[in-house]
Amino acid sequence: MHYSEELVEEVRTRNDIVDVVAGYVKLQKRGSNHWGLCPFHNEKTPSFSVSGAKQMYYCFGCGAGGNVFTFLMNYENYSFSEAMKVLADRAGVQLPEEQDDEQMRQRENKRARLLAVNKEAAKFFYYQLRDPRGAVGLRYLQNRQLTEETMHKFGLGYAGKSGEELVRYLRQKGFEDELIKEAGLASHSERHGLVSQFWNRVMFPIQDINRRVIGFGGRVMGDGNPKYLNSPETPIFDKRRNLYGLNFARTARSGNIILCEGYMDVISMHQAGFTQAVASLGTAFTPEQANLLRRYTENVLLAYDSDGAGVKAALRGIKILREAGLTGKVINMQPYKDPDEFMKALGREAFQERIDNAENSFFFEIRILAGQFNMSDPEEKTRFHREIAKKLCGFSEDVERDNYLQAVADKYLIGIENLRKLVNAYAAQTGLAKPLERPRSGIQRRDDPGESARRSQRLLVTWLAEEPALYGKVKKYISPEDFTDELYRKAAEKFFQGLESGDVQPAGIISMFEDESEQRQAAALFNANLPKPESASEREKAFHDILLAVKKNSYEYYTEKMGTDIGALKLALEGRKALEELAKAHISLD
Ligand code: CTP
Ligand code: MN
Repeated sequence: MHYSEELVEEVRTRNDIVDVVAGYVKLQKRGSNHWGLCPFHNEKTPSFSVSGAKQMYYCFGCGAGGNVFTFLMNYENYSFSEAMKVLADRAGVQLPEEQDDEQMRQRENKRARLLAVNKEAAKFFYYQLRDPRGAVGLRYLQNRQLTEETMHKFGLGYAGKSGEELVRYLRQKGFEDELIKEAGLASHSERHGLVSQFWNRVMFPIQDINRRVIGFGGRVMGDGNPKYLNSPETPIFDKRRNLYGLNFARTARSGNIILCEGYMDVISMHQAGFTQAVASLGTAFTPEQANLLRRYTENVLLAYDSDGAGVKAALRGIKILREAGLTGKVINMQPYKDPDEFMKALGREAFQERIDNAENSFFFEIRILAGQFNMSDPEEKTRFHREIAKKLCGFSEDVERDNYLQAVADKYLIGIENLRKLVNAYAAQTGLAKPLERPRSGIQRRDDPGESARRSQRLLVTWLAEEPALYGKVKKYISPEDFTDELYRKAAEKFFQGLESGDVQPAGIISMFEDESEQRQAAALFNANLPKPESASEREKAFHDILLAVKKNSYEYYTEKMGTDIGALKLALEGRKALEELAKAHISLD
């Protein structure tokens, strides 16, 4: 971070978070908070809250949270310094010239130039397609049954007969050769000098979620190799972290996102009204893309090609989705090859039916597996059953595993008790089911041992943030060291300083963290769901219980580390004393 803490705080405090968020989300005041539909995940009833007092937002559904900077960084996909600039501008705060970080400035400048040259190239292609000389391109797209409206929506274009025209145009617009090359729009050839590799193709501009053009895919018109030519990776084009069509899909509010293989699939799906369709960028689907999707939905439907390669890709995709904590289903495209063909042949209602009947990803995996065994051979059949048992062990939750076990036994006519025995045998052999990682956004796994400790710590901080006056009564029992999670401790140190000096700024604490996921965790610290007991004595008991839980956890934590860490010994001893006193103490909340 290259702005001083004071300046960051000035910009933050001069931009009321309620005002800023209200520019994006319809908010309604209820109690001390404002509420709306969360822009970071799909929901029908509002669980997204914005607090004027804390200057923070928090979603009780997906766990998204942070201060006004975090909000813009997430919503607009800004970097921190971009968010800083926008908010400074909004509040009329003058930012110093950033001479101190020349390198940073150059990098930002380079990104801006790369975006600019891509935008100009997209314009060039766009107008070429509408030019008489672009008639072949237009005819090609029309033959693929795209409407003028669709072509416009996706900014489709055409690269003419030579690769020199684009370069000439961009130079004329003032872009240097070096930049044109770095944007991946052209390269040097001995014979022709700087020429673009994009010629005689229809062009698909690739946009990021903020609709900025970050690269291109170009398709030959007809058969030819390579079928698609894509921009190379550049500082603004990261193929692992962007998805084609997500700029539209993110606001589709359809309750799911449909993941396709190709650009054309996405486009014809959108044309048919399925604006939730996206595709990866000429490479396999990545974990980074799964994380990106998680901001918008929990349900991903795979609409991959129905051929062997498509099935393989779907199996890989399912794994990635599962690891990201997303629910994957597979849309059956048979007898057609891909969504584009399907849509042309059967239309949107038929496709909606396929969506409604999408296959649970586990059953899909088992069905594909079944195809690899000859069931009339008892030995192969047994192997198939063992494989099923192995897969069932992937479910860490008993109920879930058993439900799947029953369903799969039913479907493949396997004796349920026999299958159960197989599962148990396999589990015993491998030291029981390896629990599946399921980091759902914001919602922590309940069986995580550290989680209950963190929960009490969150409750304590939230309570103290809402009633800072209580601090005087508890400070002799509790200190930042009691926060055994590193990030929480860092935040607690700052928070306790604030309590001490009587100036608590929860939203300022968020700014200490650069990483989005850290900001989200810090925001959670101030947004725990406080118990709402009826009577005063119940309230006192609840508060006391939280304090005790925090203290007890830290005592146990330092006791465990005592043997190897001399500082821990001291903290453990002090902790025990404080814990004993606290157990006897009566803390009045009045
Ligand atoms: N792809 C690529 N380079 C190729 C072939 C394919 O980058 N030589 C990527 C493109 O992103 C393409 C996706 O893989 O969109 C899927 O390929 P394919 O199914 O062959 O193309 P479609 O998008 O279905 O296009 P079309 O309908 O025109 O065949
Ligand atoms: Mn295809």
